[in-house]
Amino acid sequence: GIDVGALLKETGYVTLDQGFVNTASCSSTITYIDGDAGILRYRGYPIDQLAERSTFLEVSYLLIHDALPTPAELAEFADKIRVHTLLQEEMRQFFGGFPRDAHPMAVLSSAVTALSTFYQDALDPNDPEQVEISGIRLMAKLPTIAAYAYKKSIGHPLPYPDNSLDYVQNFLRMTFGLPTVQYDVDPTLAKVLDMLFILHADHEQNCSTSTVRLVGSSGANLYSSVAAGVNALSGPLHGGANSAVLEMLEQIRVDGGDVDAFVRRVKAKEKGVKLMGFGHRVYKNYDPRAAIVKKAAQDVLSTMAKPDPLLEIAFKLEEIALADDYFVSRKLYPNVDFYTGLIYKAMGFPTKMFTVLFALGRLPGWIAQWREMVNDPANKIGRPRQLYTGSPEREFVPIDKR
Ligand code: ACO
Repeated sequence: GIDVGALLKETGYVTLDQGFVNTASCSSTITYIDGDAGILRYRGYPIDQLAERSTFLEVSYLLIHDALPTPAELAEFADKIRVHTLLQEEMRQFFGGFPRDAHPMAVLSSAVTALSTFYQDALDPNDPEQVEISGIRLMAKLPTIAAYAYKKSIGHPLPYPDNSLDYVQNFLRMTFGLPTVQYDVDPTLAKVLDMLFILHADHEQNCSTSTVRLVGSSGANLYSSVAAGVNALSGPLHGGANSAVLEMLEQIRVDGGDVDAFVRRVKAKEKGVKLMGFGHRVYKNYDPRAAIVKKAAQDVLSTMAKPDPLLEIAFKLEEIALADDYFVSRKLYPNVDFYTGLIYKAMGFPTKMFTVLFALGRLPGWIAQWREMVNDPANKIGRPRQLYTGSPEREFVPIDKR
């Protein structure tokens, strides 16, 4: 019953674009996506080349500084990160304050906000040196925070970082190591996790990145902006999809493994039933990241002594969906997170940690996008308009007359 035409006229022809389906919020030089062709490039470099030949820290440098680093630049970047992996001792105490079953994404965003309280002399978005060190601190400390969120959830002591290890190996050791048991990081798994981080490192103006930019557009500091990004990422339609996929696969297994029956429920649009890990706002073709992850899942899971029955269910789901008109006509393909959860599970991560891993990967993208925004002379505070559809003016009625 709403006359949108009249409303638009009244508001002076603002654009109504719910979900920003067709509205650009900024111009950017960081990431290129052609959703119809299934192309993704960071700073011009194709994602498959980066995934195969680069490392996460190199890609982080590329995203943040707009150039592949020289060996010396990369070594300096890695060293800077290495010397900032410790959290202040007071920060370690925070982890004791959360309930044992706290969701690690909530712990992560709280801890990122808390970081800003320790670095109050270096929060100015207009000071390039302060921006630089804030980004380094975040890159260095997020794996420590993520590992602590996990350790807390299982009641284990919080370790200190081991800066003789590289970025991903250090994170794995903090997560899975114990003071009482020698823990050697499996270099093959570390390499796969590094590659998964590369695949997640940026994806232009997705929900969490747009959130980081929107919060930052008010002049809020990098920590506050990134904490908001973590919260945006936690939702099941975004980063939370990786854990939702595994829960879905597990549910299908528990229900007897009838994949066709599940697909019928999806197609009937049963409330709350979606094929998680399928579909994307921008990709109307196979997500190029999903193809790389699928291959990695096959490789990692084939090395396991006991095959994971969920992998078979995932393969079957994909096969059925890609041949079904419901999915074909809507151009629904697996997205990056259809297969990642199976790898994370094989590595020993509990389902609740999956989205935290996404956040670790996405961090350099958030930093790069936030920096691009603050350096853009055309940057303005983000302030969308609305179409008011509420009551016309009415006279206040005193409480005793209602
Ligand atoms: N399962 C079943 N049907 C779907 C799915 C799905 N996963 N995704 C979309 N559809 C259907 C919708 O019901 C809709 O059908 P209709 O035209 O009959 O109404 C049509 O496809 C278009 O879907 P929209 O919801 O309009 O697409 P939108 O671009 O708004 O949503 C999204 C994209 C959120 C990713 C969606 O596909 C989805 O919910 N997927 C599952 C969750 C998921 O995997 N999220 C991760 C995204 S990638 C990332 O953040 C890493």
